[in-house]
Amino acid sequence: MKGGGRGVDSVTLRPFRNADAEALHPIFADPEAMRFWSTPPHASLEDTRAFVRATIAATSEGRGDDQVIVFEGRVIGKAGLWDNREIGFILAPEYWGRGLAREAVGLVIARARARGVTSIRADVDPRNSACLGLLRRMGFVQVGEAKAVMKVGDEWVDSVYLEIVLA
Ligand SMILES: CC(C)(COP(=O)(O)OP(=O)(O)OC[C@H]1O[C@@H](n2cnc3c(N)ncnc32)[C@H](O)[C@@H]1OP(=O)(O)O)[C@@H](O)C(=O)NCCC(=O)NCCS
Repeated sequence: MKGGGRGVDSVTLRPFRNADAEALHPIFADPEAMRFWSTPPHASLEDTRAFVRATIAATSEGRGDDQVIVFEGRVIGKAGLWDNREIGFILAPEYWGRGLAREAVGLVIARARARGVTSIRADVDPRNSACLGLLRRMGFVQVGEAKAVMKVGDEWVDSVYLEIVLA
């Protein structure tokens, strides 16, 4: 279903568990999924385990609100907020193009609004047209841009900044 409704094929979000590293690793190790991420692809399962541990710690310390995306009983990605203001999401490529990220980002926005968050930012590689298309579709607007903001692997990357105001 591409309507983002509440049918049997809708996505849900739930908190990270350490055991999610196994399901998340193929996604975080995938060069296509990680092409515009803020780190190179994970080289080992231990990299993903460390990422999951750090995400759980950030959430428990109130520095983030990140969750895994579950679809048909499987963990297919993650979506949430860093620092309660910056959105981040990734989906396994075999699930792209079905409206599932739109649903997941809709849930992140609704959850943020319910928690009293007044605006959400996004920092996107300008070449990441799927991410930019999704965010614009969800109501984000561009508020800035910058050149050569950070080095990912051996590549300097630019940023486009977007924002949605919830208040
Ligand atoms: C970005 C990403 C999550 C999109 O996932 P998806 O499930 O394919 O997205 P959806 O099917 O829900 O599409 C939602 C909207 O995004 C936009 N979109 C999706 N893919 C697009 C593409 N290739 N080009 C332009 N817009 C695109 C469209 O506006 C689409 O809505 P529409 O179909 O109603 O027009 C996915 O490509 C991904 O995981 N990429 C790798 C990780 C990443 O780069 N994350 C973002 C970091 S900021």
